Amino acid sequence: MTKKLYIETVGCQMNMLDSELVVASLRREGYELTANKKEADAILLNTCSVRQHAEDKTYSELGRLKHAKAHNPHKVIGVLGCMAQKDQHLIFKRAPYVDLVVGPGQLHQVPQLIRQIVAGGGPRIEVSLDRTAGSNEQIKRSHESFDPLRDPAMRPTPYQAYVRIMIGCDKFCTYCIVPSVRGPEQSRPAADIVAEARQLAGEGCREITLLGQTVNSYRYRAGDVTTRLADLLAQLHDIDGIARLKFVTNYPKDMTDDLLRAVRDLPKVSPYLHVPAQSGSNRVLERMKRGYTVEEYRDMLQCTRETVPDAAVTSDFIVGFCGETEEDFQATCDLVRESRFKNSFIFKYSERPGTKGAARYPDDIPDDEKKRRNNELLGIQNAISHEDNQSQIGRQFEVLVEGPSKTSQKQGETGTVIQLTGRTHCDRIVVFEGTERQIGQLLPVTIYDASAFTLFGHVVTHEAGPELYELVASSK
Ligand code: 5AD
Ligand code: SF4
Repeated sequence: MTKKLYIETVGCQMNMLDSELVVASLRREGYELTANKKEADAILLNTCSVRQHAEDKTYSELGRLKHAKAHNPHKVIGVLGCMAQKDQHLIFKRAPYVDLVVGPGQLHQVPQLIRQIVAGGGPRIEVSLDRTAGSNEQIKRSHESFDPLRDPAMRPTPYQAYVRIMIGCDKFCTYCIVPSVRGPEQSRPAADIVAEARQLAGEGCREITLLGQTVNSYRYRAGDVTTRLADLLAQLHDIDGIARLKFVTNYPKDMTDDLLRAVRDLPKVSPYLHVPAQSGSNRVLERMKRGYTVEEYRDMLQCTRETVPDAAVTSDFIVGFCGETEEDFQATCDLVRESRFKNSFIFKYSERPGTKGAARYPDDIPDDEKKRRNNELLGIQNAISHEDNQSQIGRQFEVLVEGPSKTSQKQGETGTVIQLTGRTHCDRIVVFEGTERQIGQLLPVTIYDASAFTLFGHVVTHEAGPELYELVASSK
């Protein structure tokens, strides 16, 4: 009999990929996905701990699951991912009916742990070593990445896939929990990445997004050959069937000239660069320990614009970091105004216990003030995003069609013509009318309207009308 699995994922693309791989491994054990928590034999929450809000959401979801467990004690309830690594046994304390706690470096063990729980072995916890709990080698090994054989059916669309090229982070920005929950920075062997990309291409995948917390710090040494991200992109570029290559997230200091030249010279590499600045004030950047000044960030941006003039650059910002003055905040506003990011993700600072930020500085900006700064910065960015999208009107783009748009999904459209959504090479979202058969194709689309977040277009069709042949009277 098949067993049913319900899985919920919060957080970044890394988590989405982890969930995909966990589901693939459980499918091999006979589990089938369900969208219905009630009928599920196992409920897994893949969690994020980058901000308090994400954790609160998980704990309240766990609160709701208490009744489900009381109703059916055989249901396996598991907490996976970053919050599992961070809170460990605390999760059992707060929700004693949880059966399983597994950190992001131990996800390969999920099938076996569930088997033990189902066999009556009681609750299970598997987490990686803390960053001070052993030698660097031991810690690294305890965070091994989880990239088993891919299951094409598990990808969000069959035409797109994430491929992890590195795990962990060694930058230790003072606000960030990632280095402690995802462990030391480790790059995967280039040959493994290329083999995985080839497999994906063979399965019909057109677009690959390379993932790493600081993806452009990628560096893999085999013998005396060192592969950097630019080299890896060149190798992946040669794979038939792959039409687009993207990579996220970039660390500003590692945005090297050779990488920018690779983006310029390799047509399959998307001219889309997510390079979080976090703040426009040197005092804040220093307290965040970001490792660059705002002048250096500006230089990096100028180099990017000079080398890849068409690049769509996006950023992340944190407002209300400890001690951020109005002047600091205004410096961030200035940076956003002049940088003309395609868009920015803006976050209110959320103190994370266990980080240097939490230990060193008081979280002294009141929440109302953080909210005000968040809204003000968002207003500046949204106006720019809107202008930027407006300037795309009339242009033609090649769009990778991802599937029915949200509106057409809601309306349950099934007719021959439906509203589709896709993305341009530089990651702009485009909505247009088409047919289901076009999903997964690269189509030329002309833009006729735009909002701050979406372009609206028509598929360009070439007239296939009767052709004119000139009748030439033959002269003898
Ligand atoms: N509080 C708020 N935002 C954070 N980020 C990381 N840590 C925190 C925190 N403690 C943001 C950064 C990062 C993005 C993924 O999340 O902007 O780039
Ligand atoms: Fe966190 Fe900084 Fe590493 Fe990004 S670079 S994951 S913000 S520590």
